[in-house]
Amino acid sequence: MSLTAIIGGTGLNQLEGLQLSESRHYKTRWGEPSSSLQFGQLGKQDVVFLARHGSHPHIPPHKVNYRANIQALKDVGADAIIGVAAVGGITAQMWPQRIVIPDQIIDYTYGREHTFFADDLDDVVHIDFSWPYEQSLRQKLLHIAQTLDLNAMDKACYAATQGPRLETVAEIKRLEQDGCDIVGMTGMPEAALARELELPYACCALVVNWAAGKAGQQEISHAEMLATIEQGMGRIRQLLAAAIVD
Ligand code: HPA
Repeated sequence: MSLTAIIGGTGLNQLEGLQLSESRHYKTRWGEPSSSLQFGQLGKQDVVFLARHGSHPHIPPHKVNYRANIQALKDVGADAIIGVAAVGGITAQMWPQRIVIPDQIIDYTYGREHTFFADDLDDVVHIDFSWPYEQSLRQKLLHIAQTLDLNAMDKACYAATQGPRLETVAEIKRLEQDGCDIVGMTGMPEAALARELELPYACCALVVNWAAGKAGQQEISHAEMLATIEQGMGRIRQLLAAAIVD
């Protein structure tokens, strides 16, 4: 029986609808994951859920132990990972509340532990990362989104920024010139680490605000972001339950 891992981001620290069978504290050679691993059933499917920022969210994006998170999911036998993320929208189609299944990433983060292949190596390892997200997992999410009439966006380039602050208007202009459509702080190194451990990984992003400068002179309000997350995560949960059961 397959085991699907869900990494929940901001607004998804718990997975409603999960019939919990076990909550396991786990330790890896890289340290402890962000939260206990919640095993259970979502519909008919076995699922393990991990809260990226902790179950009582307190771990900022640049402090997440991404290696421990991905290693823990690998160790417990996950076959695939869906990483849920709240993001800012840069290009015109990426309006707040939109669900986006990105197909590309540009990594602007720095100083994060971003690889498992750093020491004790017999050889230098260069994983292929041309297509950072697993295509069949993306297609599955898109197909289910379509059947649920969720108007999810296929194809987008995710800019992974360092945070925890939001970007300047000039930074967003630069990201747009680089070809980025959405911006978030946790997409990397998560996706690359999953690839290093040969775990199929896809991102399910919810746009929660227009990125800096994309809504005129308006500043980005944390309260509005939270309200959008609150409204949008219900649809993400719907998608996850259906995608996994399918
Ligand atoms: N920038 C970076 N990360 C984010 C944003 C944003 O505008 N919104 C949600 N996560």
